[in-house]
This record gives sequence, structure tokens and C-alpha cells, in this order.
Amino acid sequence: MQVDIKTILQEGAAITDAALEALLPTVATVPASIHGAMRHSTFAGGKRLRPVLAYQAAVAVSGKVPEGIANLGAALEMLHTYSLIHDDLPALDNDDLRRGKPTCHVVYGEAIAILAGDALQTRAFEVLAELKSEPATTVKILALIANAVGTIDGMIGGQVLDIESEHVKPTAELVDAIHRAKTGALIRVSIVTGGLFGGAKLDELKRLETFGRKAGLAFQIVDDVLDMTVDSASLGKTAGKDLGAEKATWPAVFGIEESKRQATQLIDEAFAALEPFGEKAEGLKAVARFLVERKN
Ligand code: IPE
Ligand code: IPE
Ligand code: MG
Ligand code: MG
Ligand code: MG
Repeated sequence: MQVDIKTILQEGAAITDAALEALLPTVATVPASIHGAMRHSTFAGGKRLRPVLAYQAAVAVSGKVPEGIANLGAALEMLHTYSLIHDDLPALDNDDLRRGKPTCHVVYGEAIAILAGDALQTRAFEVLAELKSEPATTVKILALIANAVGTIDGMIGGQVLDIESEHVKPTAELVDAIHRAKTGALIRVSIVTGGLFGGAKLDELKRLETFGRKAGLAFQIVDDVLDMTVDSASLGKTAGKDLGAEKATWPAVFGIEESKRQATQLIDEAFAALEPFGEKAEGLKAVARFLVERKN
């Protein structure tokens, strides 16, 4: 099966954006400031990789992008955007550039930015509760996502480890724990819940989970490499921040070249888990390849 990564990314982003547009309150909705802030960060120009991974996981299982899955993608993107708004706050990474635009707190102030992150999170779970899937599947999707963005091996837990590991000499075990949790968990669960929405059976879910674990880790290794090798204009966020903040990053432990090699190796290993899906997984593989070959 011939797949074109550009088309997969563009079409995936387009259906995600349309769903987000429909699901987020308009800027005219009272209280207007928070809706402006939520939309500012959501529509600043993200790659929509988590939704696209979810759609392609569903394709691997069912051979098509299932009707209604864009709302799952939109909810995943709301959670990701909330994490970025909070990640950029002065109390965390203190960044003023995100997705090529001034960060949420720079434009709307810290109080509204904190609340906009909170609001994207609650709206995401509301949208998930109303997914067009079997009730038992919906509950499973909700539970998996809530867990993946939580404190134990999840996104918030990873952010805590990240912040508390500044200015310490990182070990391989430490960066592995940080990266799997702060970024890997949401990527993994995007793939698993996309598969669930597409009707995956238990053994298929296990395979998607194995794949997602490796792809999620590779994604954050590359994020660390890009921070050191690409300029701010191309990244759309401030380059070179990790070194300045003495963050526990993959290159800080392994160096840039070895980090790149490991990210590519993780993706190659991850492909093995997808073998039984055959050609239906070509799209998912193409997106995973893009995760490590991307330039921003
Ligand atoms: C960046 O994620 C933040 C991390 C979790 C490392 P992306 O590279 O997917 O950012 P956007 O969504 O395209 O802005
Ligand atoms: C952010 O990691 C992870 C989350 C937002 C959960 P980073 O701090 O490395 O992300 P960037 O580089 O600012 O996008
Ligand atoms: Mg951070
Ligand atoms: Mg950051
Ligand atoms: Mg980073």
C-alpha cells in the first residue's frame, strides 16, 4: 500500500482543526478572555501529531479512518495544548514563544493562561465522554487517557520529575523515566485509544501499546535533539533552552549523535510490533518515521 506522509499529516490536521473549531467556545462567548486564550494556543499552528497517530492506529486496525474519531483527536490535542500552556509558564519553563506565537501567559497574563490550560483539560474530558463509540469503549478510553496525563508514569508526573531534575547530573535511568512519562505517555495513549476507537482486540491493543511506548520515547529524544540543533524561528519555540535551564535531556546523557541513533533504532524496533497489521499499518509507520525525521 502506497502512503504519502504529507497527505496523511495534512488531512489529519484538517479534520482535527475542524473538530476543534466546532468543539471550543467562540471568542465571543462570555467570559471572552479565557476562550480567546484557549483558541490562541490551540490554533497557533501545532503539528497535530497525537491526533494523526490516533487516526492511523485506527486505520491499522480497521483499514479506514472511522467516523467520529476526529473528536478523540481534538480531545487529545486539547490535553496536549493545555500541557504546553502550563509548560511555558514562568513557574515551569518560562518560555515566551510557542508554535511561532507569543505564549499564552505573555498575551493573556498568567492567571488566564493557567485557567485556559485547566479549561482545555476539562473540555477534553467532556468531549471524550460524548464520543460516538460503544459506552464500554468510551469509558475505557476515558480511563486510559486520564491515567496517561496523571501523576504516576503520566504526563504530570513526568513534568514534576523534569522540573525537580534541573541542575542535577542526569543518568540514563532518570531521563528514561522523565521522557516516558512527560511526553511518551500521551503519545502512547493516543495510539492505543485510536486503536480502541477503531475496534482493536486485546492482542492488537497490546501491540499498539508496545509500538506507542517506543515511538513516544523516540519523540521526546528528538525534541531534545532539536532544541540543541535547530534555531528558534524554525522550531517556533525558543531553541537552546534546555542547556540554559540545565534540563535532564537525552543528549545531556548520550550526546547528540548517539541520541539520534537511538531514536531511529527505537522506531525500527517499534515496527516489529505492527507486523500482523500488514499493509494497513503503513500509515502509522510513516507517521512514526516522521516523528524522528522531523525538523521542528
Ligand atoms: C512539543 O510537542 C512539546 C512536547 C511534548 C515535547 P510537539 O512537537 O508535538 O508540538 P506541536 O503540537 O507541534 O506544537
Ligand atoms: C514538555 O517538554 C512536555 C510537556 C509539555 C508535557 P519540553 O519542555 O521539552 O517541551 P518544549 O520543548 O518546551 O516544547
Ligand atoms: Mg518542559
Ligand atoms: Mg518546555
Ligand atoms: Mg523540549
